[in-house]
Amino acid sequence: MDIFEKEIKSMLKTHIKQDIPLEKPPSADMGDYALPCFVLAKELKKAPVEIAKDLAAKLKSGKLVTKIEANGPYVNFFVSKETLSENVLMKIARQKNKYGAGASKKKKLMIEFSQANTHKAFHVGHIRGTSLGESLARILEFTGFKVIRANYQGDTGMHVAKWIWCYKKFHNKDKLKQDEAWIAGIYVDAVKRIKENPEFQEEVDEINRKLDSKEDKELNELWKKTRKLSLDALEKVYRELNTGFDKNYFESHVETKGKEISKDLVSKGIARISEESTIIDLEKYRLSVWVLLRKDGTALYSAKDLYLARKKFEDCKIEKSIYVIGAEQKLYFRQLFKTLELMKFEHSKDLKVIHFDLIRLPGGKMSSRTGNNILFSEFKKELVDYAKEEIQKRGKISKKELEERALKIAVAAMKFSMLSQDPNKVIVFDKKEAMRFEGETGPYIQYAHARICSIFRKHGREVYAANLSLLNNEHELKLIKTLRVFPQTIQEAASHYKPSIIAHYLIELAQQFNEFYHCCPILKEKKELRDARLLLISCVKQVLKNGLNLLGIEAPDEM
Ligand code: ARG
Repeated sequence: MDIFEKEIKSMLKTHIKQDIPLEKPPSADMGDYALPCFVLAKELKKAPVEIAKDLAAKLKSGKLVTKIEANGPYVNFFVSKETLSENVLMKIARQKNKYGAGASKKKKLMIEFSQANTHKAFHVGHIRGTSLGESLARILEFTGFKVIRANYQGDTGMHVAKWIWCYKKFHNKDKLKQDEAWIAGIYVDAVKRIKENPEFQEEVDEINRKLDSKEDKELNELWKKTRKLSLDALEKVYRELNTGFDKNYFESHVETKGKEISKDLVSKGIARISEESTIIDLEKYRLSVWVLLRKDGTALYSAKDLYLARKKFEDCKIEKSIYVIGAEQKLYFRQLFKTLELMKFEHSKDLKVIHFDLIRLPGGKMSSRTGNNILFSEFKKELVDYAKEEIQKRGKISKKELEERALKIAVAAMKFSMLSQDPNKVIVFDKKEAMRFEGETGPYIQYAHARICSIFRKHGREVYAANLSLLNNEHELKLIKTLRVFPQTIQEAASHYKPSIIAHYLIELAQQFNEFYHCCPILKEKKELRDARLLLISCVKQVLKNGLNLLGIEAPDEM
């Protein structure tokens, strides 16, 4: 509750008994707060319109609440613009990067996201899941939760067997490289060769079996080495995407327990053996049949998840477990959650999955060395090169600075274009569109931020106090209003698990700033007004930065 709400509530106390939540009127000419009088009809035995009229006549305006009027069944309250500006701007100036944050809730959540497998490519689709997970983690953290970021990587199974088979058979003269593109290339080659000669699959199966039983020392060593190589290559990708994990789960670590749980489910009559495989029949729930163990007893992806779900709660004492997962696993996750429920898993109510759809690239515009899936490294390079061109158009800078800035802009472009859309939508990623400095893009917001930084560089110093009553034109009031709703915007994004709400807010704020900047001179004004406007834009700068940070995007001082 802000000071205005407090004031209104205390005024109302002497006239009505009920504590009615105040509403936000739909437009500015209807005031800043509204009291709906419908609920009072019973208590006062009068029509809501009459009640509103009566109340408006009885209540006295003052310094904080400057005007009170009835409008149909509502009482509208207008608050002092001056106090409002003072309140919002001084709060931002005081709280800085904490502006908009919620109080600590002492609740622990886990968010599992990214989940890139070893021995395979980190492709464009992974960027979407990784950006979404990291942003949700930041948003929930900011609203006061303790968040544990978890990764869960497939480091065993058929894809690993294919990789190792192909490497041994066709590439064993190559030196092992800690390079995402090289690693992905071997896997793609394996898939191609097996497609051309399906009889190779037998050799792959043999390797898969040996890896599973761990009987072959040399194979084990090769697996360990290449696993580490893959993980180190992925670590680099995660650094570039401004993300990282508190917990790293691996399929190889939950395999044995997954098998045990599956067998246990058979003895409990929840799962059964069908043609030597272990399955669970979910036909009754229209979720078809879910296979847990293969004929040869090896564990499928499903069996491992049954154990992982429990392990997360045991390891970290969390209250909620969130999964950020590709849309192609929608059915799979319903099967998983249903099975956990049938097992009477005590936390089955505390699970949540957020699905995200595919990313497509406009046909033919981007090439890939490895087939249809565009690698992160290729994708990033295209965007970084493009960003460099844009930056260099604007003037000379050092090579190191150029690299760093280009990466920040490229990451902003990709993340923003992915986070500003609903996760359920397929995205067609258009490089030129995403990188535009004008338009609804990440770089556009970064640019507004950098522009404010440059005004302060020119001015040569910060401003901490000013006569804020001078801020009363349409552009200034609009900005203050937008700054004011930042905390509730974050709350909303957190409760709906939707970073897009923050993305849209930031576009609006950046646009309003640009309109203001276009119409209202700053440094050319006389000192009093200049300082007031400087204080205003320093708050805009802070909020742009806080918002971008919640999307996992950096806000450079120069573009
Ligand atoms: N690594 C898996 C894949 O590439 C995704 C893992 C998702 N998480 C899970 N708990 N199943 O498909």
